[in-house]
Amino acid sequence: MNARTETAHLIRENALGYQDFTLGSFTFSRDEYFAHIRWTARDGRPLSHTMDVGNFLRALMRDVAWGFFYGWVNFDGVVGTVNHYDSVDLFAGSYDATMKAAGADLQSNFPTDVIRGVFERMLDDWTNEGFDPFAAPLETGTPYGPKRGHNRAAITRQRELATRCVGLPGDLPLRTDARGAPVNRAFADVPQDEPQLHPEPGFENEVHAFNLFAFLSRSQVTWNPSFTSVVKYSFMCPTTEEHILPIIHGNDRVEWFFQMCDEIHWDSADKNTGKPLARVIMKAGDMAAMPAYCRHQGYSPKRSMLLVWENGSPNLVYEIQKGEAPEVPVKF
Ligand code: PHB
Ligand code: FE
Repeated sequence: MNARTETAHLIRENALGYQDFTLGSFTFSRDEYFAHIRWTARDGRPLSHTMDVGNFLRALMRDVAWGFFYGWVNFDGVVGTVNHYDSVDLFAGSYDATMKAAGADLQSNFPTDVIRGVFERMLDDWTNEGFDPFAAPLETGTPYGPKRGHNRAAITRQRELATRCVGLPGDLPLRTDARGAPVNRAFADVPQDEPQLHPEPGFENEVHAFNLFAFLSRSQVTWNPSFTSVVKYSFMCPTTEEHILPIIHGNDRVEWFFQMCDEIHWDSADKNTGKPLARVIMKAGDMAAMPAYCRHQGYSPKRSMLLVWENGSPNLVYEIQKGEAPEVPVKF
């Protein structure tokens, strides 16, 4: 049974060939250029919001691929999701101080499976042949126009998650030409040699190293952290960045950034109101920590390498809420 028959009672197809989708009192529709989100505000008014459909699909792709991520995934300043880990909120205007004060906001909670199902079907139906929401804009086709085929291969990519470390036997393999991961045009000068390993007999499974720059030079996607090493809840999540982080991430914990080459410019704001807090210009070698109370979005003028370091503890968000864990990594 395909998605269309399964949810036939919810779906209308418009003249351009795109389906409409419904989640509670939210509806989603697309035309040649835009995604339109409509909802009934807390005070009963019917409201709407419009996003460029390319930006919408790039954000939707991250939300789906990352299982709603840590905390807030703002598609822009108005619409987004909050991950509660066993359920997800969908909101419009709830984290925009002006819309909230005007009663123009709505936030509804859904079981994770329900919102994931609708988001996956919307991503599949609205992504045209030739447009890859994970690719840099210079490396993919157009998202615009009437419905034209699909790009299922691109939108169902599995996230690359090492269990212990990239390159260990049985773990996430190194990226190679043969595995469909050629060096990106921007990283042609990155040395591809691997470190020499000389573990004592019996320690072959304990001593390990790999060339992280070479690994990243072969990333086919942008703004999509993979796990390259995992030690308890310490997740090393490096990624290659080009153009704009397609979401504005609102933290529910501290996260660290290490700029491994080139540069990224970050806008940081209060996660609840959107009030601007800081501009952070990160150049090669710089480190920064994003506090648990902020939202942030990065701009990478050239393809660059960024190491995101996450504390993946499932208890951390509740420890922060109870005041048992800090919202900042260090107090001066
Ligand atoms: C973040 O929200 O911190 C983030 C997400 C994806 C990236 C980089 C940073 O590629
Ligand atoms: Fe973040």
